[in-house]
Amino acid sequence: MPETISVQDLVEVYSDGTKAVDGISFEVNEGEFFGFLGPNGAGKSTTIKVLTTLLRKTAGKISVAGFDIEKHPEEIRRVIGVQSQETVVDPDLTGRENMMLEGHLHQMSGDGLKKRVDELLTLVGIADVADKRAGHYSGGMKKRLDLASALVHKPKLLFLDEPTTGLDPQSRAAIWGYLSKLNKEEGITIFLTTQYMEEADKLCERLYIIDQGKIVASGTPESLKREVGADSITMTLENSGVATQTKEKAKEVLGAIQGISKVIESDAGITVYARNASLIIADIVRAFDSNKIRLTSVNFASPTLDDVFLQHTGRRIRTEELNTKQTSFARFGARRRPVRQ
Ligand SMILES: Nc1ncnc2c1ncn2[C@@H]1O[C@H](COP(=O)(O)OP(=O)(O)OP(=O)(O)O)[C@@H](O)[C@H]1O
Ligand SMILES: [Mg+2]
Repeated sequence: MPETISVQDLVEVYSDGTKAVDGISFEVNEGEFFGFLGPNGAGKSTTIKVLTTLLRKTAGKISVAGFDIEKHPEEIRRVIGVQSQETVVDPDLTGRENMMLEGHLHQMSGDGLKKRVDELLTLVGIADVADKRAGHYSGGMKKRLDLASALVHKPKLLFLDEPTTGLDPQSRAAIWGYLSKLNKEEGITIFLTTQYMEEADKLCERLYIIDQGKIVASGTPESLKREVGADSITMTLENSGVATQTKEKAKEVLGAIQGISKVIESDAGITVYARNASLIIADIVRAFDSNKIRLTSVNFASPTLDDVFLQHTGRRIRTEELNTKQTSFARFGARRRPVRQ
């Protein structure tokens, strides 16, 4: 399949000296659902801004939709749709007016535009509030309006910067369904960034995991998870925040248990990898008990993209998204970080 985005050795340094993107290369094929997964500050938005001609690259060679980004930015802007991370709806206009305006900016007009706007308002599920001022929309409605606006001119290539961050699970699922449909039925190439591993896992055919401006892993979600090669068990210890000794002791105990392939300490606690997690848990509990180490929570899960990230960086993307199959022990889940709006 021909490639529609080609990026070679992209570097982006902001005027204050921050190196937001540090030499990344990748290609996106026509018709592909391609994803960039990474935590806050990884360089996702910076990359999207460069690819969509909003930001000048510091170095590298880039072509989008067959056009060189330096020589033909206008042509690129004509054929791409962009939903930026910050919602950009005009609060004083209605949803419908926002979309009509977007159409006019793309030299569209008349019945064709009206029909397209109606169709999209219905598709993203905001037709019933189309004539209400966008300033009075909920966050989820604004995101949907923004997405619909990015589609008015029927782009063949769509850039989405965290399209579901801050949305409730239902809205998120609705947008996922809609994006899949756009990609599969209309053949639109999608470049999506996200910090939700579940979203990346579900939607993207191919993924690049980015951290601190660098690519840390890439492949299909399945191949990336397969590389982890084991289930994970994540546990938190009583007083572990203060007593480093307890943590050290715990790691020592874990190191002596047969079948554990790796022990990683992170903000979320201690994570170990084992081929047969459900059996190993009993060994861990017994060993901790006889060493007087108290557990406050234990989760076990099949490999997720977060495990991929953890193995490559030693950190987690977002702890609250653990794909927990089984939990035990009192007080589990007492602390969860709020979802960023
Ligand atoms: N205009 C700017 N000037 C200076 N530094 C910036 C600017 N914009 C972003 N950065 C820095 O560049 C790095 C990458 O930021 P970027 O917005 O690309 O991350 P991100 O992956 O999109 O994160 P998030 O998930 O939080 O949106 C961060 O360290 C950020 O602070
Ligand atoms: Mg961003």
